[in-house]
Amino acid sequence: MDPSHSNEKNVANLETRNEEHAFQKLQKYQEIIANLPKDESIDSEWNLHLYQGFWYFSTTLENVFYLQENFNADPTDILICSPPKSGTTWLKSLSFAIMTRNRFDESSNPLFKAVSHECIPHLESDFASGSFSRDQELKLLGTHLPLNALPKSVFIENCKIVYICRDPKDLVVSMFHFAKKFPWPIFSFERTVERFCEGRSYYGPYWDHVLEYWKMSQEKPENVMFLKYEDMKENTLFYIKKLAEFLGEPFSQEEEMEGVPEKIMNMCSFENLSNLEVNKTGIHREGSAVEIGNNAFFRKGEVGDWKNHFTQKMKEKIDQTTQDKLHGSGFTF
Ligand code: A3P
Repeated sequence: MDPSHSNEKNVANLETRNEEHAFQKLQKYQEIIANLPKDESIDSEWNLHLYQGFWYFSTTLENVFYLQENFNADPTDILICSPPKSGTTWLKSLSFAIMTRNRFDESSNPLFKAVSHECIPHLESDFASGSFSRDQELKLLGTHLPLNALPKSVFIENCKIVYICRDPKDLVVSMFHFAKKFPWPIFSFERTVERFCEGRSYYGPYWDHVLEYWKMSQEKPENVMFLKYEDMKENTLFYIKKLAEFLGEPFSQEEEMEGVPEKIMNMCSFENLSNLEVNKTGIHREGSAVEIGNNAFFRKGEVGDWKNHFTQKMKEKIDQTTQDKLHGSGFTF
């Protein structure tokens, strides 16, 4: 028998067993989820459910409950937290490149062969599925969870958190285009904006997600680094250096002289990453219900694309919502 074939079969069996195991583990949460308020706007298995003030797909919630019950954070874990479509792929790439700069040379970095979501585990997708393993040298973990849903051990262990957010107008445009790539029903852009303003978006209300992390970054700046996509675009090198310091891996003078921060900036630029073969043709979470081409994570990578999508009425609505939501917080986009 061809040994590689037998190996493939073993891997397939293992995956099936992992999936079955994950299914059994998660089944017990279905009753709780069935009793949560549900957004019935679309008659679909992709309806959103409201849990502790935030909207989730039911499959995400199963994973969240499992994570909250079973995840033991390590004090050296660093969480990359973000609302979807805020620049997660970029921030994960930068963090990974910074943390692994002495492990790989410029041509062998795994980011050339895999999208950053595969280099850093995503807690609510990977932990319950059995595919979770911690890299002992690289304690980076990703999540879109709001602060109030993070496993308690993250706070007990005082884990560091890096958070990124983005102008809600650009974020909703990015979200609209991303949603089109999946087989679930989508709303018109106008309705998407309305629903977004009502808070009815995946992991929304967006502003509440941002404010929770913002407040914690004000209270515990040594624990939470709070970033905005627009600032990162404007002054990328400055934030790469800040990020390296926060991650506990500051650039040495020698590295600065050698232009290491610039090399990381160029390696993780939209132009470079989006043109890699793996990001043009690779598939993320292949075979799963949320399978998607890696290229969906790279659309335009610009600030202000909302101007090409918003009517004046939509702009006024979202700006007013932003103003109302952020009122008195001290935070602005
Ligand atoms: P657009 O849809 O506006 O182009 P996330 O990674 O959280 O899903 O966010 C996706 C957004 O980040 C997309 O925005 C995408 O193009 C942009 N993006 C991805 N990689 C980037 C990079 N290296 N630099 C800047 N923006 C990037």
